[in-house]
Amino acid sequence: MRKQIVAGNWKMNTTVPEGVELAKAVVAKAAAVPANVGLIVATPATHLTSVAAVLDSRVELSAENCADHTSGAYTGEVSAAMVKSTGAKWTILGHSERRQYYGETDEKLVEKTKLALAEGLGVILCVGENLEQREAGKHFDVCEAQIKNVLYNFSAEDMKNIVVAYEPVWAIGTGKTATSEQAEEIHAHIRKVLAAKFGQTVADDTTILYGGSCKPSNAKELFAQKDIDGGLIGGAALKADDFIQIALSF
Ligand code: PGA
Repeated sequence: MRKQIVAGNWKMNTTVPEGVELAKAVVAKAAAVPANVGLIVATPATHLTSVAAVLDSRVELSAENCADHTSGAYTGEVSAAMVKSTGAKWTILGHSERRQYYGETDEKLVEKTKLALAEGLGVILCVGENLEQREAGKHFDVCEAQIKNVLYNFSAEDMKNIVVAYEPVWAIGTGKTATSEQAEEIHAHIRKVLAAKFGQTVADDTTILYGGSCKPSNAKELFAQKDIDGGLIGGAALKADDFIQIALSF
């Protein structure tokens, strides 16, 4: 059975002391969340070591990105090994903000995913269409291509350490959530695309999260969908109460 997960993506928010306080508040409230729901917080790279020190085993740590090289002359980059050495277990890769503002291509994501997996990090791979693509009716094709371009380079064994996050770009930080039907049909499609390469069992065992203005008021309806296994939460993850409320929405 696939795991249900609620992951917070803090993005470029909080100073280190603020992040440590937020992490402590999440840990303090995490006991209320059933054990079968995994909890993850993804923090800026500067915060990882300090946040790791206040997390317990209930709440896992993630980076928001890592480099497409192992080490060397790549000023400003943070490698998968560096992320791993902080105590982090995960990294988000391919977030639409990175694709849009920092030129992250599917080709780079293949490299990043390889390096993250080689370090023993789990990968939360984000896919999703923008507004123009949705309005042109291309949302299934865009998500399918992103999944194929990146994940078809990996094995069924690798898929045990990969979570997919469907995040329609038009719903991120806009307050505009995809309806549960809009989200479910893409999740089901992604699972079909995974099944075509890795078989039905691997597809059924892969956790697929929804992200994009997910909040306490809409999480229940989204998580009730057959193929939605939790959420990647931006804005609402900056308040421990809201984040935990979302994790209680299964
Ligand atoms: P949001 O962000 O919840 O603020 O829309 C989600 C994300 O980008 O991961």
